[in-house]
Amino acid sequence: MRIHVPDLCSAQHKSNPYPVYARLRAEAPVMRIVFGDKKPAWLLTRYDDVAAALKDPRLAKNAYRTLTPEEQAKAMPWTPGFLRPLTTSMLDQDPPDHTRLRTLVHKAFTPRAVESLRERIEVLTAELIARARARGSIDLLEELAVPLPITVICEMLGVPEADRARFRAMSNRLIGIVTPTDMLLAMPSMWMLMRYLRGLVESRRRSGGNDMLAALIDAEEAGDRLGEEELLSMVMLLLLAGHETTVNLIASGMLSLFDDHEALERLRSEPSLIKPAVEELLRHTSPVDLATERYTTEEVAFSGHVIPKGQRVFAVLGSANHDEQMFAQPERLQLDRDPNRHLAFGSGIHYCVGAPLARLEAQIAFTAILKELPGLRLAVPRASLRWKPATILRGLDQLPVHCTPAP
Ligand code: HEM
Repeated sequence: MRIHVPDLCSAQHKSNPYPVYARLRAEAPVMRIVFGDKKPAWLLTRYDDVAAALKDPRLAKNAYRTLTPEEQAKAMPWTPGFLRPLTTSMLDQDPPDHTRLRTLVHKAFTPRAVESLRERIEVLTAELIARARARGSIDLLEELAVPLPITVICEMLGVPEADRARFRAMSNRLIGIVTPTDMLLAMPSMWMLMRYLRGLVESRRRSGGNDMLAALIDAEEAGDRLGEEELLSMVMLLLLAGHETTVNLIASGMLSLFDDHEALERLRSEPSLIKPAVEELLRHTSPVDLATERYTTEEVAFSGHVIPKGQRVFAVLGSANHDEQMFAQPERLQLDRDPNRHLAFGSGIHYCVGAPLARLEAQIAFTAILKELPGLRLAVPRASLRWKPATILRGLDQLPVHCTPAP
């Protein structure tokens, strides 16, 4: 069955993708479309198919190695040479390279390692909230949801404070890239970002240190575990994945709570609910709407439909997380939902390495926001809020709020 699928990368679709996803799940759960970058792709929208695809080794990340040049040209978006670190991170690799790269960083993100950051995250959150209270009205996204995860990941990696605003501006340009034209227009920002990261690595090489970047440079200098381009890719991935997604969880999550006053008041009066509540906000907002692309290395069938070899596939996490076959009343925010087997962090070997950090940051942020800003409310009509056009992420453009009680 053919159904009309809107531009999945548009701001309009991102504002409420769930009715489209519900229709796809019911009528065309495995569907070939032309994606926002004008190249074909297959969409998987049912929970069971998405969960199976993420664990299936026949859906590979750098399957282009198995394709002919003609097949590559059809399936792969074009990327210029200087941007290779953007597309060669562990997220783009299969075993054994993926395993080697992931092993280098996963220890820094275990729940135990991340717990040692709790106090610092609480202090940062308290500072941001005090500033918000003093200002009276803020953009919760740019002034609270952005600085918290950016500061944490930059401190872990040792990115100097003076560089963070510039880094934020450059990364904002990257997530806005959807079409080949956007890609061309963003080239200067991307080139600058790469130049900045190379400079950062070189200066840390000289100065040394005991942060994660210094440890990665040691691994690179040891020679056998990390190549120079891989080092840049790793830093790039951690900086981008380490903040853009958590920003969206905090801002979109706050909006989900504004939309459901009862849930908001419940979480305020029962702060012990915070852990399941953050899981439910992850499910409900799905900050990574589509898992990153994968390629079929052979024919693979989902829900009885065969996808041929060499095809690009997107597993739609936002749809899986709203699948009524898996979650009762999926549009409802049920803060104590149990079980809650959401796929917001993906699944399988690429399962989000930063999940324990993202969880901790969100738990601390929501707890403090609800406790310290009792008058928090939207400062603009709900209908005026805009979402960013994006390929795989889903996030608000702004979230203007009043921090003090209504007069
Ligand atoms: C991978 C979501 C926060 C680092 C992923 C994937 C998802 C995801 C869905 C898998 C993508 C795929 O399979 O195509 C999220 C969400 C976050 C978040 C929703 C916040 C709410 C973070 C943080 C960090 C991080 C804080 C690091 C500081 C990574 C890395 C990968 C990854 C390095 C690649 C893992 C691999 O390829 O093995 N994330 N993430 N993420 N995430 Fe996150």
